[in-house]
Amino acid sequence: MLIIKESRELNSFLSLFELTGLKVSFVPTMGALHQGHLALIRRANQSGGLVVCSIFVNPTQFNKAEDLEKYPVQTQSDIDLLKANGCDVVFLPEKEEIYPNGTEYNLPFDPEHLDEIMEGKFRPGHFKGVAQVVHRLLELVQPQELIMGEKDFQQVAVIRKMISDLELGIELITCRTVREKDGLAMSSRNQLLEARYREKAKVIYQSMVECSQNLKSLKPSEAIYLALEQIESAGLKPEYFELVDPLSLLSISDEQIKGPIQACVAAWAGDIRLIDNMQVRH
Ligand code: PAJ
Repeated sequence: MLIIKESRELNSFLSLFELTGLKVSFVPTMGALHQGHLALIRRANQSGGLVVCSIFVNPTQFNKAEDLEKYPVQTQSDIDLLKANGCDVVFLPEKEEIYPNGTEYNLPFDPEHLDEIMEGKFRPGHFKGVAQVVHRLLELVQPQELIMGEKDFQQVAVIRKMISDLELGIELITCRTVREKDGLAMSSRNQLLEARYREKAKVIYQSMVECSQNLKSLKPSEAIYLALEQIESAGLKPEYFELVDPLSLLSISDEQIKGPIQACVAAWAGDIRLIDNMQVRH
């Protein structure tokens, strides 16, 4: 596995690789890798071309400085995991490589309503930061395929919109959320959870499973009320529990008695913010 830190070096390698005519499959990450990330690497591998993974903790998508500061960094064990899971190139850029002209947002892309709901509402500027870094990484890696996790459902919607609006011509492939045994979605932030909150955090998954049952007899607004109550009584602080259309991400009204519904949740477990989602009606 090649370890590349400079975009110039990445570019020379990719120009040579291009001669093979094979695809480049790209998995962007912020490191502190777990089985959720590795599932994306394995999916990239199935495409039979070059698997490139980036590790870059992107400052422009953190709306709170302390969240950026405490974000776990474990580069050496990440490299070992990537090597063992069939990654060909790991790109480890410094901030200057990604933002040579500063971090000001000047992409001709607007996430529009996606920036105003759920994650967009509670983390102002977050999705612009995500779009900015993913766009820059795509410019450097020039992949045919971009592989992302459904764990960050709204992030996928933003990147899908960016690829379409800017006509980037890249195939976006999504992978299912990998979970711990008790249902908690794997996340780099889980290792920051205090033991007592780690135990309670499974309520997020449970609330979505119960919601899908409740929706068989209750209205969406009633199911939301019960889910919020369930999360709160387990000792977490829910920020939102929304039932949305999986494509538009717009809220489902009580009158929409048919069609798919995605539950999207954010909750605080102590001072760690967790998000998750699940299809609760098919
Ligand atoms: P990060 O949180 O490191 O996640 C990298 C990729 O792994 C994302 O596509 C995310 O959805 C996926 N992922 C995380 N946990 C997962 C799980 N439990 N199951 C399946 N996939 C999972 O998301 C980011 O980084 C950043 O916003 C990034 C896109 C790299 C831009 O900075």
